[in-house]
Amino acid sequence: MTDTTPGGLENLLSEDRRFPPSSEFAAQANVHRDAYAWADADRPAFWAEQARDLLDWTTPFHEVLDWSGAPVARWFADGRLNAAYNAVDRHVEAGRGDRVALHFEGEGGDTRTITYADLQREVSKAANALAALGVETGDRVAIYLPLIPEAVFTMLACARIGAPHSVVFGGFSAEALYSRIVDAEAKLVVTADGGFRRGAASALKPAVDEALAKGESPVEHVLVVRRTGQDVAWTEGRDVWWSDTVDTASDEHTPVAVDAEHPLFILYTSGTTGKPKGIFHTTGGYLTQAAYTHKAVFDLKAETDVYWCTADIGWITGHTYVVYGPLVNGATQVIYEGTPDTPHRGRWWEIIEKYKVSILYTAPTAIRTCMKWGEEIPSKFDLSSLRVLGSVGEPINPEAWVWYRRVIGGDRTPIVDTWWQTETGAIMISPLPGVTTTKPGSAQVPLPGIAATVVDDDAHPVPDGSGGYLVVTEPWPSMLRGIWGDQERYADTYWSRFKDLYFAGDGAKKDDDGDIWLLGRVDDVMNVSGHRLSTTEIESALVSHPWVAEAAVVGATDETTGQAVVAFVILRGDAGGGEQSADEVQTTLRNHVAKEIGPIAKPRQILVVAELPKTRSGKIMRRLLRDVAEHRQVGDATTLADASVMDLIAQGLSAPGAKQED
Ligand code: WTA
Repeated sequence: MTDTTPGGLENLLSEDRRFPPSSEFAAQANVHRDAYAWADADRPAFWAEQARDLLDWTTPFHEVLDWSGAPVARWFADGRLNAAYNAVDRHVEAGRGDRVALHFEGEGGDTRTITYADLQREVSKAANALAALGVETGDRVAIYLPLIPEAVFTMLACARIGAPHSVVFGGFSAEALYSRIVDAEAKLVVTADGGFRRGAASALKPAVDEALAKGESPVEHVLVVRRTGQDVAWTEGRDVWWSDTVDTASDEHTPVAVDAEHPLFILYTSGTTGKPKGIFHTTGGYLTQAAYTHKAVFDLKAETDVYWCTADIGWITGHTYVVYGPLVNGATQVIYEGTPDTPHRGRWWEIIEKYKVSILYTAPTAIRTCMKWGEEIPSKFDLSSLRVLGSVGEPINPEAWVWYRRVIGGDRTPIVDTWWQTETGAIMISPLPGVTTTKPGSAQVPLPGIAATVVDDDAHPVPDGSGGYLVVTEPWPSMLRGIWGDQERYADTYWSRFKDLYFAGDGAKKDDDGDIWLLGRVDDVMNVSGHRLSTTEIESALVSHPWVAEAAVVGATDETTGQAVVAFVILRGDAGGGEQSADEVQTTLRNHVAKEIGPIAKPRQILVVAELPKTRSGKIMRRLLRDVAEHRQVGDATTLADASVMDLIAQGLSAPGAKQED
């Protein structure tokens, strides 16, 4: 397992600080220690109780778990419900219409306060407009929006109709958007003229236009929110303004009850091949685990807490812990459009002070960035409202964890390091505040109702104190139901490595107490700033450029972003690739990747090499390239077809064309 431990995480394994819960916190916590035993005794019964307790069903379910079609689970399958009704209407019906659902903070400081009653009207209007544009139950809708209230309205409007949404992160390129629209056969795209980022209007609509000009598409209409007021190109008959259709629609709409197993959304994520996977989730089980985990892990008190998850709706965290979990639980939350340093580096802390945020959920990369900026920045603000802090997206190094607790949490707040994936739909492994004695850097224990462990190459659970692969051993309610349009790939990707076990793709270790420490991906998936990127996808973007003959991409440890993309390329002398200056090669290829996939996929560094290290069967040995990229002594190269290749690469690195870029 040694070469699967990303550099910089070794110190995880010698971390021995402990933070027991305070007795005051424990006394008021939503979940108690006995939940583990109760859930273990009868897992499906535990989840059935959560489903009944946390959701309203138009038709109550009697079936709980049907695993006969493994690896596709069915949960609560004879029940019917509507996700938007659960997230919005029922709170209004219960007399809580005046409670704030969303405190929206625009990057430029514009704000909007949306109560649950407002949300019901906005979502109903959007649902009526979508229906008028021809969207029916079962149709797919692509959403390409900044983090503005309309993004939440649109997702819930889709859910209200039973039309699965496919949110595409606004940072993805036209090319990426096009392939996702086509794969999901989306009928409608909802976008905006642009959004505000880093103090400027950043256009979105042109990417939609470019995507739809690429070829045949199933799209009938493009619904456009005016956010920035910038000029947009217009296709008559296809494009419609939000202000003309949604704002004028009726604010009454009856939610469509769907089967518990009706698809709620598709979300594309990177896999180990060039083609992104459309992970799809269904309604009843997903909402059950979203609501339960949100309440248990963050100790949510809906009447008094102000919750803020900094994720964009383009990622699973934005789906489960901005939209569905908090709203189903009737929480009050903050959503913020912009970046943490606009207009100044204290922006987040200012927002926490302003809204008295009590629960903050963010990513290690953001915490490390704030550490770099210095603790004098957050210390200027009153952060005393905070009572629980969460982390997600990548392993958090103990130093960042301890800083987060001390500087942001005033040495007082529990920290929950939550492990999960787009595929798992909701949190799987995490401490419980008020219950678990936390360890900086460890996600620790599977939640009540979740069965996960660490196994060796032969699928045997490893003893405490050893490392291996993280697997989930029993079906869980919010598990993915497959890959859209490709159930064979679903079975192959997650269920073939170990028989009858869900293989997460992560390396992990159990410490002497049996607590789980995540060690990063063991496959060809990278994690940059908590965002998943596929090495293969970036390699194929690189070789689609005429200068590039071959490319190999690795994720190298990076102090701030966790991992960074480092590419090794062989240029084609015959295509003019050999004649460029090193700078020109860097810039051109980095921009090319941004255009093909999106700016987040841009390599930090591109190294021009003469050869790539390959095994006799032709497989690129990324492990060796990672050693080079992380400036380590190159490991065992005996299985290389040509052992001199690594010497050549090492020599080449001191030559022109191998310049590093920061
Ligand atoms: C990584 C994000 C360590 C992991 C919710 C996983 C983590 C991938 C943690 C999923 C954590 C997420 N500790 N690693 N607390 N949370 N990961 O699908 O490698 O964007 O497989 O879901 O992120 O990324 P995804």
